[in-house]
Amino acid sequence: MKDETNEIAGVEIEGDIGLIRLAKPPVNALGLALRTAVYEAFQTLTRDPAIRAIVLYGEGRFFSAGADIKDFGKADVEPTLPQVLKVLNDSEKPVIAALHGVAFGGALELALATHLRVGVTGLRIGLPEVKLGLLPGAGGAQRLPRLCGLASAIDIICSGRDVPAEEAQTLGILDRLADGPAREAGIAVARDVLAGGLVSRRTDERTVAEDPAAVEVARNRLQSKRPTLTAPLKALEAVCAATLPIDHGLEKERALFMELMAGDERAGLVHAFFAERATGRIPEKPAKPREVNRVAVIGGGTMGVGIATSLLIGGYDVDLIEAQSARVADARSGIEQNLAGALKRGKLTEESHEAALGKFGCTENLDAAKDADLVIEAIFENMEAKSGLFAKLDAICKPGAILATNTSYLDVNEIAAATARPGDVIGLHFFSPAHIMRLIEVVVADETAPECVATAFALARKLGKVPVRAGVCDGFIGNRILTQYRRAADYLLLDGADFAGIDAALEDFGFAMGPFAVNDLAGLDIAKATRDRKAATRPPEERYSRVADQICDQGWFGRKTGQGYYIYEAGKAPVANQGAVKIVEAERRVLNLRPRAFSGEEIVARCLTAMIAEAVRVLEEGIALRPADIDAVELFGYGFPRHRGGPMHQADLIGPAELIRRIELYAVEDPHFWRVPELLREMQCNGRNFADLNG
Ligand code: CAA
Repeated sequence: MKDETNEIAGVEIEGDIGLIRLAKPPVNALGLALRTAVYEAFQTLTRDPAIRAIVLYGEGRFFSAGADIKDFGKADVEPTLPQVLKVLNDSEKPVIAALHGVAFGGALELALATHLRVGVTGLRIGLPEVKLGLLPGAGGAQRLPRLCGLASAIDIICSGRDVPAEEAQTLGILDRLADGPAREAGIAVARDVLAGGLVSRRTDERTVAEDPAAVEVARNRLQSKRPTLTAPLKALEAVCAATLPIDHGLEKERALFMELMAGDERAGLVHAFFAERATGRIPEKPAKPREVNRVAVIGGGTMGVGIATSLLIGGYDVDLIEAQSARVADARSGIEQNLAGALKRGKLTEESHEAALGKFGCTENLDAAKDADLVIEAIFENMEAKSGLFAKLDAICKPGAILATNTSYLDVNEIAAATARPGDVIGLHFFSPAHIMRLIEVVVADETAPECVATAFALARKLGKVPVRAGVCDGFIGNRILTQYRRAADYLLLDGADFAGIDAALEDFGFAMGPFAVNDLAGLDIAKATRDRKAATRPPEERYSRVADQICDQGWFGRKTGQGYYIYEAGKAPVANQGAVKIVEAERRVLNLRPRAFSGEEIVARCLTAMIAEAVRVLEEGIALRPADIDAVELFGYGFPRHRGGPMHQADLIGPAELIRRIELYAVEDPHFWRVPELLREMQCNGRNFADLNG
């Protein structure tokens, strides 16, 4: 073997076979540097008369994660990916892609442009561009259907889903499956081609049959989704162009791709991609995480059961401790049901499901926490109860155990003070249902040790969650913003908008449910309990809507009682509860308010501005480390529409000047609620945006 270079695309020679090794850590992203290197390596091998076949393979964990997402939105620099791919496709010498790990997006497009593809066991391929607000723009939408037909290509491209190697082979996307290193698998295919045992064929020379029925079904399905995203529909259009001659199809695909690249949907989804990953950059990163094998979860309610399930799916040993012995059996069956659901959804295999069932115990005995490396308390929100429990845990738990509270509002410093080991106390705020929702706010109290923070982040990643570091305050990051969002919605209701209209406007913006429908789902009594708890400290000048309290007074707590803002009947779509409408109207009369009409745009602008204003204060106070962390909280814990990127991304699109103008305008009516955060004025003066603060 001859290794010509150590560059990011190394050239190797094995007899009459030339190899190009993609070697650009961490994921062999096909940015300009790697594209150029591949292009040049290819020219070298093409010119060498001794080389009769060319193999491309990847070094490291993956073949390649595709185009470099950081380049999106920047000007194209040559050689572009389509240019490199055309050269591969047109090659006189057979070109083989040997794939392992993942081949996503541009990387799969590269493989589709070669003449034969071999996949190593465990490989996942996919064209996930729609998840980034794009479509495959380097020939993927033309070449994939040439291999697997229009219907399968529509499914893969419009969903952006991962395709396992076995399925890819069945569909004709892979020519061969192999075990062992991709490099050797690629060489074996090349030898077979040169020996005449395998025929290599240019993808572009194939044709695609029309399939109007598949196109119609896909279009109807995509249009019926809410929100209706642009990228999947444009992707469908691009795939349909595969029935045209290849050059026309490629041209049309590229034009659609460039259109999407310039759009807000792409910008929002790419922002979300990086926000999810940015949250791991914390000051405690250098600290060594403690070892966690055994976890005790305290509290057998929905939250405790969800947390225990999540830990079991993550492979931990779990003891669930529920003080009321009568509720222990319910907690056990709750976990068993959740695990069965995880098995059904493919989150667990038969084997790992069986293993999880053998790894948990349910008891009323707090002593079960004594061997735990980590204890997560998930009892009801009451400081006295939590402090008392932490004092007991302090006496029971082994030295070095981390004591975590799942509180969503309470002061973690006060809870830590109930123990003689405040350095071991941390907040781990999960979101319900905890085995599904990906966010965990990691609340760092004054004395929390850095290793505890590092441990929490490591654990969260192992659970497949998105951990976000938060400081101590009432409501941390997410619930603080939620409170202001709900207040803005409550004021809109009093001022004249109707709750169904407010919900519809925010659902059109992209939320799966509007705030009133969410309140009904969460239970109106839960929010009332929080309001009651805060009543004594509520500033007297604060505008307070009594509507929700009055709805609760009727015994209407939302879905669980069959009515709240809406009426819920089995098998029927919810309809506005006219009783609730009357309560709103009566309250407006009591307050002498003259209702006025609000457009959907105004509703969204007010709610979004309220979220942004509070988010900026959260940032100013250092409760969140960076704007992207706030976006991650909203995206992964509060259902903020992913293609909108999060409130801070929206703030950058709106700009500080317009945000200040809005807040000042709204403050005329309601000066106690609307205040311009200082940071916003500073950003206006300095011409900065929030993305600049992400570091
Ligand atoms: N471009 C740039 N950076 C990328 C990247 C990409 N395509 N894929 C991953 N990265 C970065 C991540 O941001 C992360 O960086 P930091 O460590 O600085 O945060 C690092 O690589 C490792 O990524 P993960 O943390 O996600 O690692 P993982 O092992 O959990 O997952 C992966 C690896 C499966 C490849 C996952 O990163 C992934 O799915 N990436 C996205 C792949 C994708 O969407 N590709 C299509 C791009 S669009 C395209 O290719 C078509 C086109 O021409 C425009």
